Amino acid sequence: MAPTSVLTLSSLLLLLLLLAPQTQAQAPAPGPSGPLNVTGILDKSGQYTVLIKLLTTTQVATQIENQVNNSDQGMTLFAPTDNAFNNLKSGTLNSLSAQQQVQLVLGHILPKYYKLSDFALVSNPVRTQATGKDGQAFGLNFMSQNNQVNVSTELVETQINNPLRQEMPLAVYQVDKVLLPNELFGTKPPSASPPAKTSSEEGSKPTVTDAKEPASANDSNASGRINAGLGIVAGLALLCMGVLS
Ligand SMILES: *[C@@H]1O[C@H](CO)[C@@H](O)[C@H](O)[C@H]1NC(C)=O
Ligand SMILES: *[C@@H]1O[C@H](CO)[C@@H](O)[C@H](O)[C@H]1NC(C)=O
Ligand SMILES: *[C@@H]1O[C@H](CO)[C@@H](O)[C@H](O)[C@H]1NC(C)=O
Ligand SMILES: *[C@@H]1O[C@H](CO)[C@@H](O)[C@H](O)[C@H]1NC(C)=O
Ligand SMILES: *[C@@H]1O[C@H](CO)[C@@H](O)[C@H](O)[C@H]1NC(C)=O
Repeated sequence: MAPTSVLTLSSLLLLLLLLAPQTQAQAPAPGPSGPLNVTGILDKSGQYTVLIKLLTTTQVATQIENQVNNSDQGMTLFAPTDNAFNNLKSGTLNSLSAQQQVQLVLGHILPKYYKLSDFALVSNPVRTQATGKDGQAFGLNFMSQNNQVNVSTELVETQINNPLRQEMPLAVYQVDKVLLPNELFGTKPPSASPPAKTSSEEGSKPTVTDAKEPASANDSNASGRINAGLGIVAGLALLCMGVLS
């Protein structure tokens, strides 16, 4: 090799070496998506005012947003329309204590993200976020046929329609009936509920196993490859310098 061409080659490699990190740095980091606004998602269509009010007064909306932030499981919310609430026997909501209202809302939430097609594979009953006094989670059952999925409690069955949102970490599906939990509305009257342990949020706080971001595996993988690549370039450059001297 003529000295000049070696020189050209080595400076080319040096140039590559200098450029490479910059090019890599521009790879977009898949950061966390912006803050979720549950009531905002529902608000758009204007037919969930009762649910929004319930989510707000019970502070479940905030709880959802926190939990979505802190878990890698995501969540699923069944959103009864205003019509669904209007079709309840009058006074139904007002007959509930504050804590029972929380249970009713949490009974519409699954602590995991489900695509519509996932419901064909679940094993019933699927536990909701709501728990009774005994610590037992309220369950929902799913029946799937062709592309149609029904959801039921022991008291109510309805179709799942129209995902308002179907994107990790939160799925929101419209339902045309309020999913009345048997635990609250079943014929067996809840045994004259004593104000047991004033359990405001009994057991509903998940212990957060600080979920490592899914991106991290990719990142380390990618950077590993980058480093290997740089190593080769640097090696070649050194080799060329060796030839030069
Ligand atoms: C969420 O959306 C609701 C309704 O659109 C809005 O009133 C509220 O300010 C929003 N909250 C945040 C934190 O953006
Ligand atoms: C969730 O995280 C986002 C940023 O990742 C933050 O803006 C938002 O306030 C958090 N929400 C809650 C309820 O902690
Ligand atoms: C869902 O419920 C409707 C009635 O509301 C019924 O006609 C249909 O067969 C049900 N579908 C499944 C998959 O159970
Ligand atoms: C690293 O990337 C390779 C393909 O480039 C892939 O097969 C492997 O699963 C990845 N490992 C991790 C930990 O992401
Ligand atoms: C990279 O991450 C995405 C989601 O964060 C995942 O779907 C994909 O399988 C990952 N790829 C590798 C090679 O780990």
